[in-house]
Amino acid sequence: MNLDALNKVAEAMVTPGRGILAADESTGTMKKRMDAISVENTEDNRRDYRELMFRATDAMEYVSGVILYDETIRQKAKDGTPLVKLIEQANSIPGIKVDEGARELLGARGDLVTKGLDGLDKRLPEYYELGARFAKWRAIIDPTKGRPSYAGLVANAHALARYANLCQEFDIVPIVEPEVLMDGDNDIDHTFAVTEWVLKEVFQQLYYLNVKLEGIVLKPNMIVPGKKAARQASVDEVAEKTIRCLKACVPSAVPGIAYLSGGQADELATAHLSRMNQIGNFPWKMTFSYGRALQAAAQQAWSGKSENTAAAQRAFMHRARMNGLASLGKWNETLEKQAA
Ligand code: 13P
Repeated sequence: MNLDALNKVAEAMVTPGRGILAADESTGTMKKRMDAISVENTEDNRRDYRELMFRATDAMEYVSGVILYDETIRQKAKDGTPLVKLIEQANSIPGIKVDEGARELLGARGDLVTKGLDGLDKRLPEYYELGARFAKWRAIIDPTKGRPSYAGLVANAHALARYANLCQEFDIVPIVEPEVLMDGDNDIDHTFAVTEWVLKEVFQQLYYLNVKLEGIVLKPNMIVPGKKAARQASVDEVAEKTIRCLKACVPSAVPGIAYLSGGQADELATAHLSRMNQIGNFPWKMTFSYGRALQAAAQQAWSGKSENTAAAQRAFMHRARMNGLASLGKWNETLEKQAA
């Protein structure tokens, strides 16, 4: 393990003004995205769509790294250039999702546990050869219906730590992603309490598994109420509670925090990040690692037609730029409304 190299990559991933594009949707998740724009979910369509993003060099200025899926890290652009090369040419870092989804953990109140540890020590060096310098593993925590159970919480935190430990052994920066879902009716204070519990356990397990915090990036949820909660929260409340929760749980040795968007509306995900960076006074960089909130507008604009490529790239550029500004606390609604 080369901790200096890991730390350099982690720092680059959270460079102020830039953040991470989560383009690691599995083939099944891509089907949902393609269905939404009435496009057939073929390998070529997935390639064409992702290629247009990686070739949008002005948008990629705001993208420090791209999380890829196994298919994509091996794919070539139409002209034969590996997609990984396009990302590198844009001065961005290729990364790879290495978890294999989740299954139910039996006897644990319906909690899920993430799969993918078996054989990970064989896959990581291959991904490094293919160009990946960081990886992602997502643990899913449902904060409703009496969940999570302690069993579910510990199993997920332990798996995250096993994954992170292996990544560092192979000189790959682990993105540690414990996601407390926001689809339910949980209020914001319940999200706070569950997220706090999850993060405490995750950092304990990272310590037990000898993970070096200087060489990770944390990808948490923000402290938001569930979508079905009786009361939604203001941007200020989300920003203040998220910072408070993270300060109570995340050691300052961690270089940066890159939030998931988790189903927040595009603009709200940007507003929350910007407000947190305006408030400041925390020891880490704070940026984005958005999937849906960075791509939804571009997918709509593209709709599977090559003549829409430039429009899709403009839509992607606009969201990437807005989120880049948010990572500096410099986003505002006037800039948002300016034509992409
Ligand atoms: P969202 O921003 O759409 O939540 O996706 C980020 C991600 O990588 C989830 O694992």
